[in-house]
Amino acid sequence: MNKMLDVNNIEFFEKVETPFWFYDMDLLRATVGKVVSLAGRYGIDVHYAVKANEEKRILEYISSMGLGADCVSGNEVIHARDCGFPADRIVFAGVGKSDREIADALKAGASFNCESLQEIFIVNAMASRLGIRAKVSVRINPGVDAHTHRYITTGTYENKFGISDYEFAPLVDLLGRCSCIDFTGLHFHVGSQITDVEEVFSLVCTRVNSIVEWFEKRGLEVRNINLGGGLGVDYEDPDGQPIADFETWFGTVSGKIRRRAGQSLHLEPGRSIVAQCGTLVSRVLFVKVGETKNFLILDAGMNDLIRPALYGAYHRIENLSARLRPNLPQSQVYDVVGPVCESSDVWGAGRFLPLSVRGDLMAIRSAGAYGQSMSSRYNLRDLAPAVYSDDMHGARLRTEYFQE
Ligand SMILES: Cc1ncc(COP(=O)(O)O)c(C=O)c1O
Repeated sequence: MNKMLDVNNIEFFEKVETPFWFYDMDLLRATVGKVVSLAGRYGIDVHYAVKANEEKRILEYISSMGLGADCVSGNEVIHARDCGFPADRIVFAGVGKSDREIADALKAGASFNCESLQEIFIVNAMASRLGIRAKVSVRINPGVDAHTHRYITTGTYENKFGISDYEFAPLVDLLGRCSCIDFTGLHFHVGSQITDVEEVFSLVCTRVNSIVEWFEKRGLEVRNINLGGGLGVDYEDPDGQPIADFETWFGTVSGKIRRRAGQSLHLEPGRSIVAQCGTLVSRVLFVKVGETKNFLILDAGMNDLIRPALYGAYHRIENLSARLRPNLPQSQVYDVVGPVCESSDVWGAGRFLPLSVRGDLMAIRSAGAYGQSMSSRYNLRDLAPAVYSDDMHGARLRTEYFQE
C-alpha cells in the first residue's frame, strides 16, 4: 500500500501545511531495485531522466544505486554531479544547448547526445578550443509514432527532435572531419507515457536495427544504442500496479535489438521511476454550489502540477480525510479545481467522491513525475515543499488562522 494512504499518516497530514509533495521512499526504493535487477538480467545500462523529478534526495538515492543521469540543461548536469552521479555516467541531451551549457558540460566531463549537424560542428569547435575530446552520440528521428499524446510524442517527422534520414550521409562525412569528437553511438526517443509497449518498441527496434546497420556499413562504429525513455504508468489505478511494467519493456527491447559483441543497450526512464511514489497533497478551501455543478476548490493549483492544464492529463483524486470518517459512498459529483486565475486550472471535472467539506485533505495521485519539476510561481504562489515518508515529522505544520 502507498504509505500516503496509511491512516496514521493521514492523521499526521491533517496538521501539515498544504499543499505539499509527498514521496513514498519505500516505493521509490522498490521501483529502482526492480530496475537495477532487470537491467542486470538483460544487460541494459539505465540512465534516469532527471527532468522527471530533480529533487536532491531522490537523485541521491538513484545515483547511489548506480544508474546514470540523462540531463537536458547545463544546470541539470551540474545538479546531477552534486547529487553523486559520476561525470562518466552523465549524458547531456536536448535540442537547444547554449554555448555556455556546452562549455560547462565539456569541462564537467559529461558526454553528449547531439540533435543536429550544426550542434555537432559547434561541440567539436568548442572542444577543440578547450583542448578536450567530446564523447558524442547522435539522436536520430526514427519516424515512429509512439501512440501517445501529441505533446509528448517526439519521434515522428513532425517533431523537432533528432536528425532525419536525408542527413545521414552528411553526418558520416561531418563526423569524419571532427577531430575532437569521439563518436559513441545512436540515440532514439519516440515519446512518453507509452502504454502499447510491445507494439511501439517492436517497431522502434526494427527501425533502429536497420539504421545502426546503415551507419556501421559506412564505417561508423555504433557502440551504444540508446532507446530513450517512455514507459507509461497507470494513472487511473496507481495502487493496482505501483511498479510499472519494466519487465515487458526491458524484455522487448533486449529481445528485438540486434547487438553484436561490444555493443551496449541503454534506456532512459523518467516517469516510470518516480510517478507513482509522488502525491500532491492539498486541502479543500471551499465547497461551492454552482448553478449546474458543485465545485471543490483546492489550495493546490496548476502552478504546482501543470499536467492537467497542459496536456489534459488525468490524475486520480482521493479524499484522504474521508477515509477517517465512517464509510460514505463515492456518490457526490464534483468539479475539482485549483485557485489559480485560469479556467484551465481544473484537477478533474465530474469526479465521483465521498461527500467533501472545507478542510478535507485531497490526494492528487501519480504526481511524482513532471510534477514538482514543472511547477512555477505563477500568480506569485509559493512553491510547495516536499515531505518524505522517511522523515515526515520534518514537515511544516499548519497555522490555524480561522479559529484564532
Ligand atoms: C530524450 C529523452 N529521454 C528520456 C526521457 C524520459 O521519458 P519518460 O519520462 O517518458 O521515461 C525523455 C522525456 O521527455 C526524453 O526526451
